[in-house]
Amino acid sequence: MKIIQITDTHFSPNKPHFNGNWEPLLTWLEATGADLIVHTGDLTVDGADKDEDITFSMDLMRQVKIPMLIVPGNHDVGHLPGSDQPVNAERLKRWRSLADQDRWLEDANGWRLIGLNSLLLGHEDEEEEAQFEWLQRALEARGGRRIALFAHKPLFVDEPHEGDTGYWSVRPAQRRRLYDLIAAHDVALFASGHLHWAWQGRFERTSLTWGPSAAFIIDKMEREMPGERLIGAVVHEFGGDVQSRIIDVPGMTAHVLDDVVHEVYPQAVKKREAAE
Ligand SMILES: [Fe+2]
Ligand SMILES: [Fe+2]
Repeated sequence: MKIIQITDTHFSPNKPHFNGNWEPLLTWLEATGADLIVHTGDLTVDGADKDEDITFSMDLMRQVKIPMLIVPGNHDVGHLPGSDQPVNAERLKRWRSLADQDRWLEDANGWRLIGLNSLLLGHEDEEEEAQFEWLQRALEARGGRRIALFAHKPLFVDEPHEGDTGYWSVRPAQRRRLYDLIAAHDVALFASGHLHWAWQGRFERTSLTWGPSAAFIIDKMEREMPGERLIGAVVHEFGGDVQSRIIDVPGMTAHVLDDVVHEVYPQAVKKREAAE
C-alpha cells in the first residue's frame, strides 16, 4: 500500500503566492499510482479566519482522483491559547463544515491509519480531552493492525524530551500522553508537517517523518532546525513495516518565506517588529 503525504500547501484565492505549485504537484500525484493521499495540514494561508481560503483549497484538493484524507493545520483552524488566532468553536465549525472532520480513522491492508487535529493539543479543554479519549479507543480497538499517525505538528523539534518549543511542536504534557499511547500500541509511524523542514528520524520503535512543505522554505527569519530545506512530498510504503522516502517533486518552486512574508503574513511581521 502506497500513501503519499503532502503538507503545508498554503493556498489562497487572494494571496496566490504559492498556488503555482499545485499544477506540478497534481501532475506528480496522479502519476504515483498511490492508494491514498494524506494532507497533514496548512492547506490554506488564512483558513482560520476566511471561508474562501478553505473552499478555494478544498476545490483544488478535490481535483485529485486518488482518495485524500486531511488533518487541519494552524493556518486552517487556529493555534494555541493566547495566540492571535486560537482554536475555538467558530474556527472548528468552519473547518468541519467547509473541509471535513478534523480527525479520522481508516483501516487498510493490516494498518490502522489515524489522523489527529494536533491544534487541539495544549488547550486542555473538552475538545482536547474528547480527542485523546477517541484516540485511546481507536488504538485499543486496533486488533492486530499496526498504527500510523498523521498530524500537523511534530512531537518535538530537537530532542524527544525537550521543554516547550512554543509555536513549533506539541507541548510537553500532551507529548507525554502521546508517547504513552504510542509505546502501548505499536505505533510504526508519526508523520507531520508544520515546520517547513524535511526530516526523518526515530523515537524508540516509531519512525518519524516531517514532510516537506509544498509551498515555501524559511531562510533566516526563523531558527535553524534539523533536516533540510526542501519543497516536495513523502512516499510512505506500507508492508509489514513502513518505509518512507522524502521526494523532491519536479517542477515545484521553493519559495522563500523571508521574501514574501510582508505580503503573505503582514500581522506576523507587525507583531515581530513590535516585539523587537
Ligand atoms: Fe505551514
Ligand atoms: Fe503550521
